[in-house]
Order: sequence, then structure tokens, then C-alpha cells
Amino acid sequence: MTGGARLAGEVRVTGAKNCALKLMAAALLAEGSTTIREVPDILDVEIMGQLLGRLGCQVDHDRVGSAVTIKVPEVPGHQADYDLVRRMRAGINVLGPLVARVGRAHVARPGGDAIGSRPLDLHVDGLVRLGATVENEHGFLVASAPPGGLVGAQIWLDFPSVGATENLLMASVLARGTTVIDNAAREPEIIDICRMLADMGAQIGGVGTSTLEVQGVDRLTPVDHATVSDRIVAGTWAIGAVMTRGDVTVHNAHAEHLEIALDKVTQAGAEVHRTADGFRVVCDRRPTAVDVVTLPYPGFATDLQPMVLALNAVAEGAAMVTENLFEARFMFVDELARLGADIRTDGHHAVVRGRERLSGAPVRATDIRAGAGLIMAGLVAEGITTVSHGYHLDRGYPGFDAQLRALGAEIVREPDVDYYDG
Ligand code: UD1
Repeated sequence: MTGGARLAGEVRVTGAKNCALKLMAAALLAEGSTTIREVPDILDVEIMGQLLGRLGCQVDHDRVGSAVTIKVPEVPGHQADYDLVRRMRAGINVLGPLVARVGRAHVARPGGDAIGSRPLDLHVDGLVRLGATVENEHGFLVASAPPGGLVGAQIWLDFPSVGATENLLMASVLARGTTVIDNAAREPEIIDICRMLADMGAQIGGVGTSTLEVQGVDRLTPVDHATVSDRIVAGTWAIGAVMTRGDVTVHNAHAEHLEIALDKVTQAGAEVHRTADGFRVVCDRRPTAVDVVTLPYPGFATDLQPMVLALNAVAEGAAMVTENLFEARFMFVDELARLGADIRTDGHHAVVRGRERLSGAPVRATDIRAGAGLIMAGLVAEGITTVSHGYHLDRGYPGFDAQLRALGAEIVREPDVDYYDG
């Protein structure tokens, strides 16, 4: 891409990757045909579809209509293999539904992004509280429910983990009795999963709070559900608008899911206007550096941290960015430095001193969000920037290059080549 363009125009956000994949896993909880709408056209959806296919489901992906229909058999399989689960973190989300409905699950420990260690202790401890036994065998988590099925329990999460909250929620909706998940994650994607489960017949109290109370039911029924829109993609456009001193209207977005991020964008010097179905960000000057601390929702999202580092790299002044969720998320700082960014990291803090301009260079996307941060930086770098390993971007930003071009960026997508990652 060639830097220098100003992002201006309108863009529409689709359903959230980090929700649609979980909703697909939740379909396992009911026999019959469940349809998930507003599903992003990304590889992870295909992989989750294949995973569900191996579990005996019939999966139809209507790309044009952005819908996935999953026909779940009376008794699904229980084996989720490494070749699929290693390719995306969300594979672990079949664990809770399978133990609840089939009574057992063999799920390979997942892979996912290179953003640091991602343990599963909270998922496992919670399932054990619900009466399951869980062993680690040959790279698999092997879980079994007790003979009469899972039993409701009080669960305190040490940390409001998104994945653990989802898995335990999906396990407890079919458990006998009451489950209380305390210190639960409150992300909008979790609220959306709760809504779908409630439509399926689950009884969940405290939705949107950090204490979820679930009354187990005997069975759930299939539904038709639309995925909540992707707040990380919407936030990426907001930050891109500020960085390029642009004017971007984001449709199908929920400003209320991005309160802190949009406040930071305002502090950086932009005007944010709420619209009927989203928001508009306008900026006509060099942005001011903003301090950011990542935290579980409603705190500033860790998935937007790379974009805010890129913003600060060209802002006026200096700022401190603190990463509290994933230790290796600063790994991509060296790539930003290749573009001339002045960033110093110490543990989970990064100090960024803004530069008037960055300088285009070949860089490498290390994960989805780092890739988006590098694209944003490339937009404001002088000359040509080439972001390699672009397949990472395809996992979170369907049609990103076309959307960027429509907003005025000079960017082309080169075919993927095989890279040596060693
Ligand atoms: C999800 C998102 C990811 C986002 C993250 C935080 C998906 C596929 N990914 O990841 O994009 O960045 O939420 O918003 O939805 N932890 C433990 N033990 C556990 C589980 C988690 O210690 O059993 C720790 C993790 O190491 C991390 C923190 O909890 O430090 C947050 O992780 P979690 O909220 O579980 O993130 P994911 O669900 O993996």
C-alpha cells in the first residue's frame, strides 16, 4: 500500500467473529436446525463449520446471505481434532456444549494467535465444579459428565475470562439445578450468546452483569439468531479515521459497545457523532497521543491495542499503553519500529513517542489485530508498505482491502505466498 490517503466515506460492519463462532458452537445444544445470521465471511467460520461437520452436524454456509445453518443430530459426536482446533482458538468452545449434551468431549487444546500463553484452567476448573472429570491426554482435554449429567454449582472465576464464561454458560444451561458464575465476563458477545440461549429456552439471570445465574433445563430448541456486530472492526475504523485525519461513517455498529474507545478517539482530537445505526468519526488535525490501559469489558479492548499503538506512533506527544491481558501482544512493536515508530516496552507497558511521519517498509502481520495495526500505520507512512502474512487479516476483517480502497486508500492485495515462520 502507498501511504498518505485520507480515509473518507461509509463502511458497514458485519457480525462479530468472536461471537458468530461461539453461536455456532451453541447450536450443538439443541437437536434440529439452527440458523446464525450476520456471520462474517472468514476462514474461521469455515473451520468451525468443518468441526461441527465432524461432530455429525450438517452445515450450510450461505455466503451471499451471510448465514450459516447447522442441522444438529440427536446425538452429536464428541471428538474435536487437533487439525481443526489448532487453527483457531474458538474451537475450544465446543467443549462446554458437548459435555452438557453428549456427556463427554475430547477436544484438542487449541492454537490461535501468537499473542502469548492462553491457559484453559478456568474452563477446566469450572467444568469440574459442575461435576465433570477433565483429564489432559495426548494433547486433548478429555471431559466426562457424571452419569446423571452435569450438576449446577457456584463458580467463581479468578479472572473474567471471555472463553471460560462462554464455555461454562453453555455447559450449565443443561445442568441439573442452579449454576452461579461469579466474576463472569460482560462482553457484548457474551450478552448476545445469552440472548440466543434464552431464545433456545435457557433460563439465565443477570445477563450483562458479572454474576450470571442459570437455572438448568432439560432440553433446548433450535433458533434463528443474528450475530451482534463486530465492535473491534468498528473500533478499527474509528481509529483509522483519526490517524488519517479522515471522515468515516460506520454503519451497523453499536457506539455503546465502544464507549472508552470512542472517548479516546475524542481525546485524540476527533469529533464523534452517533448516527441512527452507528457513528461517524471526523478528524482534521494531527491526533494527540492518548494513554490506554487494556482491561476486560467495559475497559479498553485488548484487541484494539495494536491500533492505538499505531495511532500514538504518529500522534503529537507521548503516551503510555498498558497491556493487561496478553503478555506477547507487544511482539508486533518491532514491526511498527520498522516503519519508524518510536516505542519502548517494559513488561506490559509501552511508551510511544509520536513521530510526525512514518516511513513505508516491508512488515509482517503476527496476528489478526497486529495486522490491522500495521495496515493503519502503513496508511500514514511515506511511500510503500507491504504487510506480509496477510492471511491473518482475512480471519478478522473480511474484504478489508476492498473496504479500504472504497474509503480512498491505495492498497492492493497480493496473492499469499508460503512463508517460513521459523
Ligand atoms: C477472547 C477473544 C480475543 C480477546 C479476548 C479478550 C475469541 C476467540 N477471542 O479470547 O480476541 O482478545 O477474548 O477480550 O473470542 N485466562 C486464564 N485461564 C483461562 C482462560 C483465560 O488465565 O482458563 C487468561 C488469559 O491468559 C488472558 C485472560 O485470561 O490473560 C483473558 O483471556 P480470555 O478472556 O479467556 O480470552 P479468550 O476467550 O481466549
